[in-house]
Amino acid sequence: MSKKVTMETMLSLLKRRGFIFPGSDIYGGLANSWDYGPLGVELKNNIKNLWWDRFVRQRKDVVGIDAALIMNPKVWEASEHVSNFHDPLVECKKCHKRFREDHLEGKKTCPDCKGELTAPTQFNMMFKTFLGPSEDSAGQVYLRPETAQAMFVDFPHVVDTTRAKVPFGIAQIGKAFRNEITPGNFIFRTREFEQMEIEYFVEEKEWEKHFDNWLKEMKTWLKDIGVKDKNLHYVDIPEDERAHYSKKTIDIEYDYPFGQKELYGLAYRTDFDLSQHQKHSGKDMSYRDPVSGKTYIPHVIEPTFGVDRTVLTVLLEAYEEIKGGRSTTKEAVKESEIVLRLPKALAPVKAAILPLSKKEPLQKLSDEIFNKISSVGNVQYDETGSIGKRYRRQDEIGTPYCITIDFDSLEDNSVTVRDRDTMEQERIKVEDLNNYLSEKFAS
Ligand code: GAP
Repeated sequence: MSKKVTMETMLSLLKRRGFIFPGSDIYGGLANSWDYGPLGVELKNNIKNLWWDRFVRQRKDVVGIDAALIMNPKVWEASEHVSNFHDPLVECKKCHKRFREDHLEGKKTCPDCKGELTAPTQFNMMFKTFLGPSEDSAGQVYLRPETAQAMFVDFPHVVDTTRAKVPFGIAQIGKAFRNEITPGNFIFRTREFEQMEIEYFVEEKEWEKHFDNWLKEMKTWLKDIGVKDKNLHYVDIPEDERAHYSKKTIDIEYDYPFGQKELYGLAYRTDFDLSQHQKHSGKDMSYRDPVSGKTYIPHVIEPTFGVDRTVLTVLLEAYEEIKGGRSTTKEAVKESEIVLRLPKALAPVKAAILPLSKKEPLQKLSDEIFNKISSVGNVQYDETGSIGKRYRRQDEIGTPYCITIDFDSLEDNSVTVRDRDTMEQERIKVEDLNNYLSEKFAS
């Protein structure tokens, strides 16, 4: 029987198995900073690679960039992040805790001690730092709060060098920084996070068609990474809550254990950003249609995907706890068994090699098999504990296939492959193993 996982249970599994650790832990941590461990970085990279493959490599109409993280501060004046990227900050006059007023759901006193709150002040969320040795305003720069602006600033270069024709998109994956007033809920809201964004340039008259297409693309992506539609909500954001650049925004929200919250966003940014950059830089940001000769500033549809929120969401969706265990053999356990039913493409370990003995002949064969199959992805080797325990260890990190090597393997040159989800076991010839697994991962 499965039950919905709590954040506490999820965190303890992720820490115990090396997915995600508290950042700077030996120094007592740093508020809301998290480090991706050996399994976490594999999962995160698999998500980013799958996204890049789908939205950049497999499309003729999208190209990628990887821009500098610190940009000329004029970028953020033009984009109006300097003047508009604010959250309303209130402070409790008694306990001095700070809150985002728009997160207090209308409460007029401190949610912790019921103390009186200050009037809201506008707090700019961009991190400031300095270029070069002197800390004066001439050298002041910002850490980017979104990856998007580089796609606008580089628009003329991309058009010139690729001869891309509207409609087309520029994509980027990278870090963004926001000095959030109330970070929290693990990796859901942090001050340093990653985004996967596409700025898709269109003719104004076609914006609705492209907006609808991208919404469909986002829905298909979510289905393919194992997020069930019943846990998602598509929220049309009213004008007074939309970002300053947006004429229409749909937030894709997910039912997290801490409530329904934004996972991704889809925005119609009009020609706001390109026009602003043209005005502030004095450079021509228009596009000339090579067929009609018409010159105009394209409008933009922006699908945006948070990487860390994707990691959290796929983990919550994949988690299953089976009371009493699911094994029918004498290895069956009385306590709960955890299975992380991650889509195979996302699993941090693709296959585990489990020799039944630490003795040399099995070790040798295991090493040969390791080298043979490592091209299918990250392969783990585990020789300690009973085979039942080893299966369970792999199940709880979501490994799709376990390969058991026994003494018969030395005679028949075959191994047993166990499927994480069905627990079915198949005897496969060692020479066929690579093809067998490759086919499984392709399906
Ligand atoms: N370029 C548009 C943009 O940045 P956003 O809604 O502010 O829009 C996009 O952010 C996505 O980035 C969000 O949907 C979310 O997935 C992720 N995100 C935003 N703030 C975050 C934070 N503090 N921690 C983790 N992820 C965050």
